[in-house]
Amino acid sequence: MSGCACFLVNKQNRLYVLSFIEFAVNLLVMHRFFYLSLYIKKESQLQFNLFDIKTPSLVGVDISSTAVKLVELGRVGEGKYRLEGYVIEDLPKDAVVEGNLTKINEISEVFKQAWSRLGTRLQHVAMALPPASVISKKIVLPDNLPETEIEFQVQAEASEVVPFAMDEVNLDYQVLGPSAALDEHVDVLLVASRKEKIEDRVAVAEAAGLKVLVIDTEANASQTAYEGMLHLVPNGGRGKVVALIVIGAAMRVIVFVDNVQVYVRDLSFGGNNLTQEIQRHYALTFDVAEKLKRKADLPENYAVEVLQPFLETLIIQIDRALQTFLTSTSYVKVDDILLAGGTSVLPGLVEAVSAKTGVSTQRANPFDGMAISGKIALKKLEMDAPALLVACGLAMRSFDAP
Ligand SMILES: Nc1ncnc2c1ncn2[C@@H]1O[C@H](COP(=O)(O)OP(=O)(O)OP(=O)(O)O)[C@@H](O)[C@H]1O
Ligand SMILES: [Mg+2]
Repeated sequence: MSGCACFLVNKQNRLYVLSFIEFAVNLLVMHRFFYLSLYIKKESQLQFNLFDIKTPSLVGVDISSTAVKLVELGRVGEGKYRLEGYVIEDLPKDAVVEGNLTKINEISEVFKQAWSRLGTRLQHVAMALPPASVISKKIVLPDNLPETEIEFQVQAEASEVVPFAMDEVNLDYQVLGPSAALDEHVDVLLVASRKEKIEDRVAVAEAAGLKVLVIDTEANASQTAYEGMLHLVPNGGRGKVVALIVIGAAMRVIVFVDNVQVYVRDLSFGGNNLTQEIQRHYALTFDVAEKLKRKADLPENYAVEVLQPFLETLIIQIDRALQTFLTSTSYVKVDDILLAGGTSVLPGLVEAVSAKTGVSTQRANPFDGMAISGKIALKKLEMDAPALLVACGLAMRSFDAP
């Protein structure tokens, strides 16, 4: 298995951590988090309950660093989705910092406005935690343990890896299946997050009178959305190494091999750097620079003096990120690149990334192939769709139930 240099296996064949953060990230290397989520179910001995996958229809809610994003999907016919509505409502600067909801009242107000613009009758939502707020660990347990004993073991293991008091933590687990390492054992994935990270998000939804049914991880929501876009990738992604590069305010590189998520890295460079450059170049405030950037309403010298140098730096960062992936794993090449995130709409970016990396590149639209409600403006959707990857993946949780 590539990309798991940070794991050690001890005598009991349990995986142990060399680097705590790397562990969390690299665990994604080893698993499809397909059903993974933290369900709110207070009566459970653990505070959350995994794998209870029956959910009523819900709205996907991504509270990102720049906006509250909502996506509502419906079903038309067997296995086909319909985008019923979406909203992107901008947040004030620094309301969300590194995934932390720092200005909760402001965020709640923006959320209420977003919800009222969506105009849905649904009352349930799915939300996601960023990778930095999630701690994961795989453990190996005998395959004949009763549920209560698994819970006990999970709690004991969690107390070893979680650097907080256990009463500050929400914990959940999922039995992944028979262990490859040990006969008559199963692999169990435990997932933990500080309660406050979850409670902040729940508070925002509850302030709008809504109920949170699913707390997922952003990595898993991206995976779900990616699986809805496989028809865009040659051979449906089978046997391929596909890099999904999400360029929002910052950047996230997710690599799938044979459609299994094997690598996730967050980089600080992204759309914020372009806004800051506009701010500096034209002596504007950040907010004004941000507005003018999105409207492309900037002086004539913008394209040559600001945009072009930014694009050059951005494609160098992307190329470097892919090289880092290749050198830290056993994979020798990337077959395809999908660009997502609000910054991916910059003109010329797809072509520039393709030219620099030599890899076939396209913009990701998580709604491609879905029916679209008549009330949605298609031209606007085309620009907005790449930023809605996580919200779309969350909304797809509505249809987990068989
Ligand atoms: N039309 C546009 N032209 C250029 N940049 C745009 C446009 N629309 C949005 N952006 C930029 O995209 C970024 C927001 O994208 P996105 O919504 O994907 O980010 P996010 O999810 O809020 O941030 P994060 O990187 O923390 O996930 C901002 O930097 C914004 O300026
Ligand atoms: Mg984002």
